[in-house]
Amino acid sequence: MATKQYAQWFRGSTPYISAHRDKTFVVLLPGEAVAHVNLTNIVHDLALLHVLGVRLVVVHGARPQIDAALPESTYHGHRRVTDGSAMTTITGIYGQIRTQLEALFSTGLPNTPLHNVEVPVFSGNFVVAKPVGIVDGVDHLFTGAARRIEKERLWATLSNGGIVVQSPIGFSSSGQAFNLPAEELAADIAIRIKADKLIMLSNINHVCDDQGQRVSTLTPTELERTPFLSDEQKSHMVCLARAVRGGVTKAQLVSFEDDGALLAELFTAAGEGTQIVEQQSRTVRQAVAEDVAGIVEVIRPLEERGILVRRERDRLEEEISQFMVAELDGIVVGCCAVYPYGRQVELACLAVHENYRNQSGANLGQSLLDAAEQFARDEDADEMFVLTTQTMDWFLERGFEETKVDRLPAEKQSLYNWQRNSIVMTKRI
Ligand SMILES: CC(C)(COP(=O)(O)OP(=O)(O)OC[C@H]1O[C@@H](n2cnc3c(N)ncnc32)[C@H](O)[C@@H]1OP(=O)(O)O)[C@@H](O)C(=O)NCCC(=O)NCCS
Repeated sequence: MATKQYAQWFRGSTPYISAHRDKTFVVLLPGEAVAHVNLTNIVHDLALLHVLGVRLVVVHGARPQIDAALPESTYHGHRRVTDGSAMTTITGIYGQIRTQLEALFSTGLPNTPLHNVEVPVFSGNFVVAKPVGIVDGVDHLFTGAARRIEKERLWATLSNGGIVVQSPIGFSSSGQAFNLPAEELAADIAIRIKADKLIMLSNINHVCDDQGQRVSTLTPTELERTPFLSDEQKSHMVCLARAVRGGVTKAQLVSFEDDGALLAELFTAAGEGTQIVEQQSRTVRQAVAEDVAGIVEVIRPLEERGILVRRERDRLEEEISQFMVAELDGIVVGCCAVYPYGRQVELACLAVHENYRNQSGANLGQSLLDAAEQFARDEDADEMFVLTTQTMDWFLERGFEETKVDRLPAEKQSLYNWQRNSIVMTKRI
């Protein structure tokens, strides 16, 4: 990556670094991901999250590994039926996987991201289980469900700086071990410890619409209506939806096959997977110094395409109090600037990150315009003006009219760039 690109990417990711610090993520690593060549990269990316101050609970699965060891094993729906002798094999497989993960979290060779980094990993009796029992006449034997999560103990481990690696297993009060579907356990832990995110690494890279296009955001109800391929995939989606309904702020579906997909989903506005949120919390508010990096990420691509006039970072920092930002789930996704000139107010730098434009229901551009107009009214202005080269129709549809340069305040007229030849539009407010 060229130095400039790298610097831009790094600056762009800073709002996410602070947004994720001290947050708690539960990550489901299904058995397919454990067996995938990308596992080492995924574990290193998880370790990076840990270093950045994210509290992590990693729940692993082992479905293909168990299927290979127990070809006679049967399923009822998405659940395996676990008999006594299968349980011995299964606990052995879980032990091997935990050891493999612990080893990967301990890699500290000089050419790895974990060089000089200590990542303490813990596992233990955090899950109290109960039998699933007989469903549709089928006795599930030692297949269980979480009855309780020892959340104080789990929480103490996380607060002490440890990563918890949890096998899909729990123990009853009589000391019996039960085998649990990993996705159900991940959702149960996320709900009970009130996690900020449940991340499901999956071989479905993201949810697609009817045209095969990626859907970046869904509500739990929309997710449940999306058709899925197998019982297992459906069960994963049901768990994501259940977690969000149970109070987890956000559930995310991310590819384990695609190297870097987890980091792209967490540290860029565009993301790569699909996120499930109950209702997007959005606000438009006055910008503060910490928003500069987020604003830069929104406006730079538009400046590079000549849609917005370039503003250097130091000018942005100086003028930050003139800016308003639109936030979605705590991340800056849009901005505008307002400059008072007596009875007139200029609206400038109106932009919404391209992944969040034209979203029916969100109308972020409109919300920013409403906030700018409110600012103008509070300033006792009676007219708002804007200079635009490519967005006339959007402003026309919102009550602006085309006018002449001489309608601008005198100091603005003297700065008018005739080469850029922007159209001047005004609106009475
Ligand atoms: C203009 C902009 C801020 C609107 O943001 P947004 O969040 O998509 O806006 P809203 O959701 O409120 O409105 C979406 C509607 O505007 C329309 N629209 C978006 N850009 C448009 C444009 N350049 N010209 C005409 N209409 C446009 C969409 O088609 C959509 O119409 P619909 O509701 O009929 O489907 C956003 O498109 C943007 O950042 N554009 C690039 C920067 C820019 O041009 N800024 C103005 C500088 S003066």
